[in-house]
Amino acid sequence: MSNSHSFLNSSLGKKIQVAFSGIALCIFLLFHLLNNLTLFVGPDIFNTMVQSLETIKPLIRIMELGLLMILLLHVFNAIYLTISNNKASSNKYDVSITQTSTLNSRTMIVSGTIILLFFIVHLRYFWYTYQIHDFIGDETYYDVIMRNQIGYLGHLPTAIFYIIAILLIASHLKHGFKSALQTFGVLENSKWGMLYKISIVFWAIIPALFILIIISIQLNFIS
Ligand code: HEM
Repeated sequence: MSNSHSFLNSSLGKKIQVAFSGIALCIFLLFHLLNNLTLFVGPDIFNTMVQSLETIKPLIRIMELGLLMILLLHVFNAIYLTISNNKASSNKYDVSITQTSTLNSRTMIVSGTIILLFFIVHLRYFWYTYQIHDFIGDETYYDVIMRNQIGYLGHLPTAIFYIIAILLIASHLKHGFKSALQTFGVLENSKWGMLYKISIVFWAIIPALFILIIISIQLNFIS
């Protein structure tokens, strides 16, 4: 086995893979938000933006595949680390550590399942509807998002589900950034502590703006 291969399989190597794949996913989220903020400008700009992405479909397909691989790398390495951490702490006879890690992993399982459900619902109703052009009458890309139907943002229960999932994603990102910065040995009060402040953009501001879009749709500020 080569040195680089055994490093990638080590605990530190896996932590670094989780951190880098997490950062890549955050960059996607930033671009996804910028695209969706055009909903505030109006249907014409949003539809033109989606249409222009349609013209570079092969490139988009490659990026989607890359995104899926990065997501799988992130999830599988994170699950592996959680299981090996739990095993390590249950070997010790320290009841408080074991109880805390059980609570953490239980919370992770519940929040992880809701986030996964969110991805399935989101891709099924948004991505898939766009792919097969399942539009009713003279609907545009913009109108699909506003539908008052299960799976779309004009529908109150769906909007509530989205907000809960985005809050869980925000809390996941907050913890993720904290542990990534610890992995890289960056302390909050060091000169690299600036990175912690930058991370606020990703775990607080970006999720807040996604939620603002959803609330604006529900209150008909975007309609
Ligand atoms: C207000 C909230 C959101 C809106 C309006 C929205 C809208 C959309 C739309 C319209 C698509 C289909 C794009 C296309 O096929 O051209 C899409 C795809 C996607 N969305 Fe979202 N989204 C929102 C929130 C999120 C969040 C919070 C995440 C992740 C945490 C996310 C992840 C994805 C992914 C992974 C795709 C598939 C990749 C792609 O085609 O770009 N979305 N979204």
